[in-house]
Order: sequence, then structure tokens, then C-alpha cells
Amino acid sequence: MKPDSAAAAPADDVLLVHGGTPLQGEIRLRGAKNLVPKAMVAALLGQEPSRLRNIPDISDVDIVSRLLQLHGVAIVPGDEPGELILDPASVEQATIADVDAHAGSSRIPILLCGPLLHRLGHAFIPDLGGCRIGDRPIDFHLDVLRQFGAEVEKRPQGLHLAAPQRLRGTKVELPFPSVGATEQVLLTAVLAEGVTELRNAAIEPEIVDLIAVLQKMGAIITVHTDRVIRITGVDRLGGYRHRAMSDRLEAASWACAALATGGDVYVRGAEQKDMMTFLNVYRTVGGAFEVEDGEGIRFWHPGGQLCAMPLETDVHPGFQTDWQQPLVVALTQATGLSILHETVYENRLGFTEALAAMGATIQLYRECLGGTPCRFGQRNFLHSAVISGPTKLQAAELFIPDLRGGFSYLIAALSAQGMSTVHGIDLINRGYENFLGKLSDLGARVEHRR
Ligand code: EPZ
Repeated sequence: MKPDSAAAAPADDVLLVHGGTPLQGEIRLRGAKNLVPKAMVAALLGQEPSRLRNIPDISDVDIVSRLLQLHGVAIVPGDEPGELILDPASVEQATIADVDAHAGSSRIPILLCGPLLHRLGHAFIPDLGGCRIGDRPIDFHLDVLRQFGAEVEKRPQGLHLAAPQRLRGTKVELPFPSVGATEQVLLTAVLAEGVTELRNAAIEPEIVDLIAVLQKMGAIITVHTDRVIRITGVDRLGGYRHRAMSDRLEAASWACAALATGGDVYVRGAEQKDMMTFLNVYRTVGGAFEVEDGEGIRFWHPGGQLCAMPLETDVHPGFQTDWQQPLVVALTQATGLSILHETVYENRLGFTEALAAMGATIQLYRECLGGTPCRFGQRNFLHSAVISGPTKLQAAELFIPDLRGGFSYLIAALSAQGMSTVHGIDLINRGYENFLGKLSDLGARVEHRR
């Protein structure tokens, strides 16, 4: 089925994929897509320049770079590849037209609210973009900003915010451990007056890495047990020097590709400590992995059958929702019935329709098929799936719906018989650096149609 996004895709971002070849070789990870743009936004809060390393060459980074430059942040390359120096000395308000040009580009602009309110006393934020895997509301963000004392006004073209006086620390409890809303609190509380207490916080590794960045700038942030984070506001923050954590989501994507194609892939830069739950699931399904501390992780299909399993996505330290789409393709090759319950996003299983058209046996359900009932049970969302395998996948014409679903289509095409045509692959550049080069390095038979 051709989603509306495909209609807008340029004609040249089509990839012909000849399936049936196991992926074999080595790829290198860079910094995490879900940390690096946030660390770049954090530089806005400092009185001195910041230096960030291990930055991936992905479009999400380009978007946030342009947005920061619009607001007067000087950004220049550092000494080594993947390094940027960000100087916030002359932060200024950008024009609405310029900022609006970034509307729909990503979810990152919402995180500029706190820093711009601290620096300028006002901010304009365009409508957000990001993968269509659910409604993606920002109500938690707006509630939190108002609790800090910000005036927030939603207008047709975006958000207008003002801080008549210095923002004040507050007590916040999130209805759900939202990553973005937790980042909103962190980026606002560090310069607010007094103490902020955040309950039901997200504690993903990318959040902890952002806290490390803020601590380097002079912030005082304590992560307590049971998801409580306390921030003591300070009057001034300096710059930071930080090497971003590697992208555990990309690592898992290539691990699933190795499993689904019967291959053997070394992911340089992968860190066991950030992937513990994924590694448990990988081993349970029948995948093999070997950790080289400080170097990377080797992922391979050891031969024999893969085993179906029950799986429920959850916030950290549960099974990360961004890991499920690539894994589902491997589950189509597993013997038996796998049961997937997606509890973070209400609409992240739409990508399975195309897999079914390729020959997978996947049935979606509105019920919570898993250990615990979630927010989406009985609300008419198809957020559970039963996958019966193994099934032979046949090549097909595929239209990429979102970032991780798109990568799962590449995996499906690589493990299918025949040649698939994958449209809209440019979207994959949002979160996977040089994925075409990596596919070639791993022996994939692909042709990028210009
Ligand atoms: C971040 O999105 C990541 N994106 C997502 O990765 C990731 O899946 C998600 O966190 C969960 O781990 C980036 O970091 C850029 P949330 P975010 O706020 O912050 C609801 C990928 O593929 N919610 O934790 O937008 C929301 O609807 C992407 O790399 C509200 O209801 O996610 C969802 O159901 C996809 N109101 C749940 O919380 C709000 O104001 C989790 O969302 C905010 C969120």
C-alpha cells in the first residue's frame, strides 16, 4: 500500500534489493541519534562554547544544526571527524518565517523551549515532525513549561512562549515516563530558580548521557530510585566537552539484519551495557553474540531454527520500542507463534502490512496480548501482533512508512527471495549514517536508482 509520504518522495530515492545473500562483515557505529541532537540543544544553555564528538552524519543532526544556527549559535567542525564546536555567545531570536521553515522536520524543536526562555525570555517553536507511529502529542511538555512559569500560547503556525520573569523550579509527575518530556524538564530546570523534582521520569541511557552533558556544564542533577530525578537550579552554566554514547538502536537494527539473513555482522562501537535487554531477547530467539569490551559486539545466526517468543515493549530497562520493528522481521523466520505487545506507541505496527504482503503470517489485535494491560487496551488501537513462522518472504515493491519500519523493510527485502524495490529510502538517512555504504560493506546486493 502506498502511504501518502511515498507520493512526496523524490523519484531517485529508490533502492533495488536482491535478497537471499547473508550479510557478513563489519560496520561502525557513531553517536546515538536520540542523544546527539539533545546534547547540541543543551549547548544553548552555556556561557562558553561546547565540543561534542562522535556525531553521526544523519539528517536529524543537520536539522538541529540549522535550527541552532538560526538562533545565532556558531557551529564549526572540530579537529576530528564527527566533532562539532558550538558557540552560543550570540544567541538571538530567529524570525518566525525562518523557524517555520523547519516545521514538520523533527521532534527536536520542542526542546529549544527551556533554553530559549532562559537565554531570551521568549521562543517560537514550529509544528513538530517525527515518525508517524502514533499521535505524538506534546501535552506533557506544555504542562511542564507552564509549571515552570512559562506563558505558552498555541497558534496556527506553532507555539509562542514567554517567560516574564526567571523560571522557577517545580514538582512534576509525568503521566507516562516520556523521554521527550523528561528532556524538557532537564533542559529547563538546570537554570530555573530553586529545586525541581521530576517523578515518573524516563531513564533511558540517552537520558543519562544528556544528564552527563549537563553535569559537565555545571548542573546539579540526581537520579534517584523509582524514576525520581531532582535538579537544583544554578545561575550559570559553562560549556562541555563530551563524546556521545553510541547508537544502541542502530546496533540492534544490524543485529536483526544478521539474524534475518542468516549472516554474521560485527558492530564496532556497540556497548553491552546499553543493550542488555535486547541481548537477552536476541539470545532467546536463537541469535548468537559475542562482546568485545570497549570495541564492539559480533552478532550472527548460528544455524538451525530460530525460536518464536512472547515480547512486550516498555520504557527502559524494558525492551525498547525502537528495537521491535527490525526484530519482527527476524520473528517471521522463527518457528512457532511469537506474540508482540507494543505498549509505548499506539500505532507502531502498521509496517507489518507490507511484511504480510511479502508472505509473512502476521495478525494484529486491539487487545493487550502480553503480560500487562497498557494505556491502549480497549481503545481501538491495533497494538498487539501474533507472528507465525517460519514463512518464506517474497520480494515486493515497498514504500517506507517511518524510520525503524523503513529499516525493517530493508531487512525483509534482504532476506526475501527475488528483487525488491524499496521507495522513500531517504527517510532512513534520518537515523542511520551511510546505511547504503554499510549495506555494501556487508555484501548486500543493492542498487541505488538515481
Ligand atoms: C523518543 O521519542 C525517541 N525519539 C523515540 O525514538 C523513542 O521511540 C521514544 O523516545 C521512546 O523511547 C527521539 O529521542 C528523537 P516519548 P519521544 O515522549 O520523546 C506519549 C526512533 O525511532 N507522550 O517517550 O517523542 C507518546 O505519545 C524514535 O528513534 C504524550 O502522550 O517519545 C508516546 O505514547 C521513534 N504526551 C509515549 O508518551 C507528551 O507530551 C512515549 O513518547 C509526550 C509523549
